[in-house]
Amino acid sequence: MPEGRPFYLTTPIFYVNDVPHIGHAYTEVAADVLTRWHRQSGDDTWLLTGTDEHGQKILRTATANGASPKEWTDRLVETAWKPLLETIDIANDDFIRTTDERHERRVKLFIEKLHEAGHIYEAEFEGLYCVGCEEFKPQSEIVEGTGQYAGQKVCAIHGRPLELMQEKNYFFRMSAFQQQLLDLYKERPEFVQPESARNEVVAFVSQGLNDLSISRSSFDWGIPIPWDPSHVLYVWVDALLNYATAIGYGEDDAEFTRRWPAQHIVGKDILRFHAVIWPAMLMAAGLPVPAGVFGHGWLLVGGEKMSKSKLTGIAPNEITDTFGSDAFRYYFMRAISFGQDGSFSWEDLAARYQAELANGFGNLASRVLAMVKRYFDGVVPQPVVDEAAELAIQTTVSAAVLEADAAIERFAIHDALAAVWKIVDALNGYITEQEPWALAKDQARRDRLATVLYTATEGLRALAVLLSPVLTKAAPKLWAALGVEDSLGELSAQPLRSAGEWGQLKPGTAVGELEPLFPRIEAA
Ligand code: MSP
Repeated sequence: MPEGRPFYLTTPIFYVNDVPHIGHAYTEVAADVLTRWHRQSGDDTWLLTGTDEHGQKILRTATANGASPKEWTDRLVETAWKPLLETIDIANDDFIRTTDERHERRVKLFIEKLHEAGHIYEAEFEGLYCVGCEEFKPQSEIVEGTGQYAGQKVCAIHGRPLELMQEKNYFFRMSAFQQQLLDLYKERPEFVQPESARNEVVAFVSQGLNDLSISRSSFDWGIPIPWDPSHVLYVWVDALLNYATAIGYGEDDAEFTRRWPAQHIVGKDILRFHAVIWPAMLMAAGLPVPAGVFGHGWLLVGGEKMSKSKLTGIAPNEITDTFGSDAFRYYFMRAISFGQDGSFSWEDLAARYQAELANGFGNLASRVLAMVKRYFDGVVPQPVVDEAAELAIQTTVSAAVLEADAAIERFAIHDALAAVWKIVDALNGYITEQEPWALAKDQARRDRLATVLYTATEGLRALAVLLSPVLTKAAPKLWAALGVEDSLGELSAQPLRSAGEWGQLKPGTAVGELEPLFPRIEAA
């Protein structure tokens, strides 16, 4: 039987009409850091990501590129979206495509069930549709066009004209779940986070809910409706179901029960789909609602949401080619409060790389290991008497672990990193104050030198563990240089929540070489 508290986290599944930019990578990294933290804490963890491949947006892009939608999606998934996961070092447990057979089969089971239970009916429908959003727009998001679109209704998000659609559709009786949803937000205030997101969702549902059109018959790039294959399932209903189909909904009950419910991480632009439509669908199917929905902010470039369509898109490898994946992961998790918007700038990235990663952390590690080499022939010394300064470091380390873990529990990844960085700062201050290079000149102070270098090295041991969910390349390098693999085991097996227990590094351990963790970046 699996051990540990279940923790199933999902990212949104990405539209494959185009290649990824750093906004998409941001969602992935946040989800990956959270799951790596939980996995290393012993929780029964699962990270799901994948691609959203049906619908008009993809169909039109494929056609415009002279490809069939299947050829197009296969190409983009293999050449752009799966490689993204390597570029930014994501340790996902599964990757689902909405064109996977397992997904299509299980979606049909789900929708059939809703139909049989009387939650679906057929009716004539007319509405203004935005292909960019893949959504019939509510009145509040329809604006008058200007410039080339003057006289037309445009989407407030995409700024492009809306299309009038008139069809016979199948509808999901979502309006019936209004009260149940409001009760959910009330009884479980943490269901939608952060609070600003929750308020928006509550206000939206309080206004009243319409039924949802869930089928389309004017094109066929989608999953056929089981009882009427002249219609395909609405792309958002198809996409949301990935969270259930990937873990075996309808076919593998043991796996489904083990994992469900999921915690969802989504951008705030798609919050409503996840916090309103999706729980209503689950309620209708008699399944538990998600564990929660966290809506993060946008990466802004020049004050606007970064996007390919507005030509502000930056490809993740433009950053990682120069700074590496660790810097990418660290920068976005540290510089932006998770849940709020944040501006990206090359200057800020370069400044933090130099000050925090290279000078703050990288140099600390190199200097401490170099001193162990020089003064103790590369063998971790036995500490002698812990004085106030050593006790202060021990307290900083154990407090940082608790603080960081509590921050991760509330999805405050930036606070978790800030808590861990208190150790980096404390160790740097400690070394400056204790001046081991001065102690080394005086044979009578050899015990003191041993205590100081033990403390610094043991501090690095804790840092390697605590930073491993974020600095997935540098932390294992530091772990290897500390020479602890034989005595303590692999880094990934270190229980994160006990990282602060002092004295795990054994005196007598032989340390190894450490190449600079964050080398100087030469200006191009
Ligand atoms: N396919 C839907 C999601 C379906 S989930 C059942 C979709 N895909 S998307 O590719 O357009 O967006 C995926 C995620 O990337 C969303 O969470 C979105 O918020 C995020 N981002 C897209 N641009 C972004 C920024 N500029 N900044 C931060 N996140 C951004 O929506």
